[in-house]
Amino acid sequence: MSDDRLTRAGLRLFLKRDDLISPDIPGNKWRKLKYNLETAKKQGHQVLLTFGGAYSNHIRATAAAGYYFGFATVGVIRGEEHLPLNPSLGYAVRHGMRLAYLDRAAYREKMSPEVIAMLHGRFGKFYLLPEGGSNPDALRGCAEIPFEIDCRFDLACCPCGTGGTLAGLARGLGPGQRAVGFSVLRGEEFLAREVAGFQREAFGAVSGNWSIEYGFHFGGFAKRKPALDQFIADFEKQHALSLNWVYTAKMMYGIFALAEQGFFPARTTILAVITG
Ligand SMILES: Cc1ncc(COP(=O)(O)O)c(C=O)c1O
Repeated sequence: MSDDRLTRAGLRLFLKRDDLISPDIPGNKWRKLKYNLETAKKQGHQVLLTFGGAYSNHIRATAAAGYYFGFATVGVIRGEEHLPLNPSLGYAVRHGMRLAYLDRAAYREKMSPEVIAMLHGRFGKFYLLPEGGSNPDALRGCAEIPFEIDCRFDLACCPCGTGGTLAGLARGLGPGQRAVGFSVLRGEEFLAREVAGFQREAFGAVSGNWSIEYGFHFGGFAKRKPALDQFIADFEKQHALSLNWVYTAKMMYGIFALAEQGFFPARTTILAVITG
């Protein structure tokens, strides 16, 4: 990217356009599903079941993955059914997903043996994907991102929700490289513990080459403010790229703000992963 604000700070910035992987299973959705689909197939599963809110991109992507890779899919949705279905759930149903609804109290207990047994009673045998899709196979997929990059870089950045993408990305980096995650949630300082936990579970150790910035959530998950909207509009005008306001815009705003504050040493080459 060529941008005066970065040039002034002596930085180079490359974008890794993971959003272009596929319109149906973009960015980190594909990274997270890839090895899960392989494992599900190897274990002889025919059904994928997962959880999400009514606007969940993970639900939508799981429906698409089932459609394209030959699995039946079940989406367990938080809250009550609202008809007509919103565009995300409408897409999921058109791609063959069966929907089930759990009230908020039951949804909180969704991974408990009782709720899982109830779901098996209703839907039979299934391969379970966690809400948001972050599990060891998902991290393996995210760890592949750096191997596709053929320019030298010092720092890889990504947005953080559950922290699974950061945990995998950091694991895939080479010696001397670091990862910075930008939290899109408010007051989620426990996120670092989550990322460490994901790495321990998937790889047996915490890589220690990552950190998280907490100052760019703009009020919390799926919250926005005029400054963010203005940034997105300017960015689109200058760089012909429309940033996703829930995730990648908050990361990119954070990168530019930190650059202007002199946070990155001059001559740092930054790689920003456009995760979707
Ligand atoms: C486009 C996009 N970027 C980043 C993330 C955050 O990923 P993670 O939950 O692994 O931190 C998500 C989460 O679903 C996403 O949809």
